[in-house]
Amino acid sequence: MAGPPVDGVLGAIGRTPLVALRAYPERGDVRLFGKLEASNPGGSAKDRPAARMIQDAWDRGLLAPGATVVESSSGNMGVGLAQACRSRGLAFVCVVDARTNRANVLAMRALGADVRVVTRPDPVTGDLLAARLALVAEIVATTPGAFRTDQYRNPSNALAHRDGTMREIVEALDGRIDRLLVATSTTGTLRGCVDALHAHGLHDTQVVAVDAQGSALFGGTRGPRLLPGFGAGVATALSESAEYDRLVRVSDLDCVIGCRRLALREGVLAGASSGGVLTAFDRLADDLPPGARCAAILPDGGSRYLETVYDDDWVQRELDCDPARLADLVAGGPALPVA
Ligand SMILES: Cc1ncc(COP(=O)(O)O)c(C=O)c1O
Repeated sequence: MAGPPVDGVLGAIGRTPLVALRAYPERGDVRLFGKLEASNPGGSAKDRPAARMIQDAWDRGLLAPGATVVESSSGNMGVGLAQACRSRGLAFVCVVDARTNRANVLAMRALGADVRVVTRPDPVTGDLLAARLALVAEIVATTPGAFRTDQYRNPSNALAHRDGTMREIVEALDGRIDRLLVATSTTGTLRGCVDALHAHGLHDTQVVAVDAQGSALFGGTRGPRLLPGFGAGVATALSESAEYDRLVRVSDLDCVIGCRRLALREGVLAGASSGGVLTAFDRLADDLPPGARCAAILPDGGSRYLETVYDDDWVQRELDCDPARLADLVAGGPALPVA
């Protein structure tokens, strides 16, 4: 059912499909459901916090017509904010870095955003996120009427996932969720999901935080990472009080393998962090009780990763994995579903 008409593009955010993934993991009657956040109008889970941060700031009188919103983003939040700002007639400056998908930069520009791309890491920390945040601070200080949404500490970020993403999953699964897998960067999704589970009295759901190898979150050591979206080069304010039961760190190649398996087994073209989440699911699946019901949030779609995750030449060049080995690794997981 398409549902009734909605008021503007922001009204189309949320109510994303929860898809039963048949091929994961083919172990007894364990079920895995994927929340397809690519179905949001801006193409990712970040549409939710972007719209909520703008709405909440507007309601509190912190934003008014003519203001300029400024944010640092790995790409998806930038698209979500460009969309939300456009629908309210606000200017938007987005600071991204060299890892950001070209398609996301072009999408932001198409939505009228002023996109600044940081190419040099912060000289003190050697980190791109730190360099992005330094440029955001400079832009805010020199732009009259600037407003910083600050997704790394803004409570509205997590509230959007508490009241949206996770509430929808709880409702769709009638509160029966044994394991939840969430990719992390600002950790707004993780925080919002945990808060929703608690609010629904679901204290037994095991929450798995999936972070990137080379991310500094949760006591990690910062190192090289190529794929944008999840992980962070510096611990974020929200992350310092994040709650989870298990932590899995996945490599860029793990993300590629998870994405390629999902595409070939389920016909779902998902973004890099979704692949990481599914590889983490596979890695932990052995200790699931019979009949377990699991949910994985798939934060964005794969069309913005066609030149990286889904390009054999890129994988060979950047991750040193040739196409034959990659095909073996992709085939090496659980068996294909029987037609
Ligand atoms: C593709 C993707 N996956 C995962 C995340 C992590 O979400 P959060 O910032 O809520 O931790 C992001 C955040 O930008 C993302 O863009």
